[in-house]
Amino acid sequence: MRRFFIETWGCQMNVHDSEKMAGLLGRHGYVPAVDVGQADLILLNTCSVREKAARKVFTRLGMLRSLKRTNPQLLIGVTGCVAQQEGEEIFRRAPHVDLVMGPRNIAQLGMLLEQARRDGRSISLARDDDPIDFPSGTTARSTGPRAYVTVMEGCNKSCTYCIVPYTRGREVYRPAAEIAAESADLAGRGYREIEFLGQNVNAYHHGEDDLASLLHMADRIPGILRTRFTTSHPGHLKKRIMDAMRDLPTVCNHLHLPAQSGSDQVLKRMQRGYSRARYMQKIEYLKNQIPDMTFATDIIVGFPGETVADFEASLELLKEVEFQQVYSFGYSPRPGTPAWDTDDDVPREEKSERLQRLIALQESIQIRHNQRLVGRVFEVLIDGTSRLDQAVARGRTACNRIVHVRGGELAPGGIVHARIIKAHTNSLTAEGIVPVPRLDSDRTPGYKGETVSTSRR
Ligand code: 5AD
Ligand code: SF4
Repeated sequence: MRRFFIETWGCQMNVHDSEKMAGLLGRHGYVPAVDVGQADLILLNTCSVREKAARKVFTRLGMLRSLKRTNPQLLIGVTGCVAQQEGEEIFRRAPHVDLVMGPRNIAQLGMLLEQARRDGRSISLARDDDPIDFPSGTTARSTGPRAYVTVMEGCNKSCTYCIVPYTRGREVYRPAAEIAAESADLAGRGYREIEFLGQNVNAYHHGEDDLASLLHMADRIPGILRTRFTTSHPGHLKKRIMDAMRDLPTVCNHLHLPAQSGSDQVLKRMQRGYSRARYMQKIEYLKNQIPDMTFATDIIVGFPGETVADFEASLELLKEVEFQQVYSFGYSPRPGTPAWDTDDDVPREEKSERLQRLIALQESIQIRHNQRLVGRVFEVLIDGTSRLDQAVARGRTACNRIVHVRGGELAPGGIVHARIIKAHTNSLTAEGIVPVPRLDSDRTPGYKGETVSTSRR
C-alpha cells in the first residue's frame, strides 16, 4: 500500500485543495502517512503570495532530497501557486522533483502520478478558462464539523501587489445547483458549518445567482447551522449580500474583509477600487444591522511610497473598526505584478518596525475587546480540543471567536452555551452551561445573537 503526505502553505483555498488531493489519492489506493519519512509520495502544496513563502519551498525541497536515497520509490511533487508560477523552473532548481501541478489542475493528479512513475516526470499547469471540474464526493475533509465548499476559482482584480490573478487565473464560477448539492450532501454526513470559498467570493455570480442566493440556499438546508464565506472584496460587498447576512439566521455575524491600507493614497496605488470612506460605510452598515458583528482584515505595511502618515492612517483604521483579528504583512515585491517595477522604497527595518507597532496596537485592541465579553454567554460549536489540555474542548462562536470550554463531555459537532470566564488576546476561556440539541428544528431564534436570551428578530 502506498502512503502520501501533503504539506500545505497559504490560504483556505490551499487547505481545501489539499483536502481534494487527499481524496483523489485515496481513490488511487493511497493512504495517509504519519510523516514524510513514511511516505511514498510527498506533495508540497505551496503559496507564492510573499517572497518568503515562495523561497521556503526550495529550502523544504532541499531538506526532502535525502529521503529519495532511502526510498527510491518516493515521488516528490510541487503543487499550488509556486508550481503555477515557477513551472519547469522547479525541475531545474530541484531536479529530484517528479511532479509539478498548478492549482487549476488538481483533477488530473492521478494521471500525473502515473505519468511521473512511467516517464520519470510530469507537469500540468493551468488553462485559465477551464470550468471547475472536480469529481464530487472525492474530497477528504479534515476540518471537523466545518466543511469548505468551493464556489469559484481565480480572481479578476488587478491589485498592483498581488500575484494571485497570475497563479490562480481568471474567475470561473460553479453552478449554484452543484454547490447546493454538495452542501446538502455535507449536511447529510453530519457537517454543521459550511464555508464558501473563493479568492473573490462575493463576486460570485452564475446565471441569476449571486453570493446572496447561495447564502439563502444554504440557510434552507436542514442540519446546516452556520454559513461563512471567504475571502471578500469590499468593492463587491453589495447590499443584497449584507442584507442576507442580517436576515438569515445561519449566516455567521463575522466577516473577513481585507482593507489592505487605511490611506486613500495607498489604496489608489494598490488599485483596490475603493476609498477608506467607502470601506467604512460597509463596516458601519453591518455593525448597525447585525448584533455583535465582528470583522477580520488584512493589512499590508510598507507598500511603495507609504509615508508615516499613510501608515498611521492604517493604525487609525484599526482603532476605528476594532477588528477582531488582523493579518498584517510587510510588503513583498512579486515578479510580474504591476508594483514589481515600482521602487520598493520603505526600508526593511522600517517595514518591520511598522509591523511591530501595528501588531502591538491590534493586540491591545483585542484584549480590551475580549475583556468586555467576560460574563456573557455564547453559543459555541465544538471543533476539537485545546492544544494545551486534551480535556478542554475548543470551538468557535458564530462571530468567530475561539473559545476553550471547560466542563462536560463536549464532542466535535456539538453546540454548547458557554459563559466566558477569562479573556486572552486571541481566545476566550469559558465554562459550558447547557448543551444545545443538534436538531435543526431546535435552532434558537437568537442563534447569532450571542447573548442567548436575546432574540435577533
Ligand atoms: N506583499 C505582502 N502582502 C501581500 N498580500 C498579497 N500580496 C502581498 C504582497 N505582495 C497579502 C494581502 C492579502 C493576503 C492574502 O496577503 O494582504 O489579502
Ligand atoms: Fe497563497 Fe494566494 Fe495562492 Fe492562496 S491563492 S496559496 S494566499 S498565493
